[in-house]
Amino acid sequence: MVRSEGVTVEAGSGSEFGRKRGKVFPATHARSLVDPPRRLVQSPRRTVVGMALAPLARVLELGCGPGFIGPFVAEAVPRGIVVLADLQFEMLACARERLCARSKARYLQSDASLLPLRAGCFDAVLLATMLGEVPNRDAWGKEIHRVLAPGGIVTVVETRRDSDFIAFPKLYELFCCHAFVFVDRRRRRWRYAARFRAI
Ligand SMILES: C[S@@+](CC[C@H](N)C(=O)[O-])C[C@H]1O[C@@H](n2cnc3c(N)ncnc32)[C@H](O)[C@@H]1O
Repeated sequence: MVRSEGVTVEAGSGSEFGRKRGKVFPATHARSLVDPPRRLVQSPRRTVVGMALAPLARVLELGCGPGFIGPFVAEAVPRGIVVLADLQFEMLACARERLCARSKARYLQSDASLLPLRAGCFDAVLLATMLGEVPNRDAWGKEIHRVLAPGGIVTVVETRRDSDFIAFPKLYELFCCHAFVFVDRRRRRWRYAARFRAI
């Protein structure tokens, strides 16, 4: 367990995962998520700018994969806290490799539906093209709400290129039934980034 600056990180949980329709993105294909051409269609920098993070913000990225967006989050909060979490250890190993010298990010292997984190210890949570892979929608909604400080913001990025794409009306419904209010949504052809505030 790692405990510092208000964030407590424990060993990951081992609950079941997998969906009827889709599957957890295989770690063997991790490299494809950080291919440079992906930046042309989905700018990680723009995603992070849209999160409007304060330099001291405490940020959790769930389902961070091999660290496509993580380096930009770390850059945006030079005096804050960044925790990158993923179900798969191999994904975290790739993310750590990409970020290592540049940041003091912490890494957490965990299921988004059961987070070994203290309540209210983050100002922002990022979920980029990962929610569709998490089967227990009621559990993750509660967990994200629990780890956010009151007024904390969750940003969700979804792209139609992902086989687990969640259309905005469905996402809106999922968040509003977990005590979040809609903040805004930015759209570009086949993708969107939506923000919700915890109440
Ligand atoms: C399609 S990848 C996207 C990775 C990264 N967010 C990106 O945009 O490049 C989805 C990621 O979510 C992770 N994931 C799937 N189900 C999860 C769960 N229940 N809890 C935590 N992470 C999960 C997978 O291991 C995978 O790394």
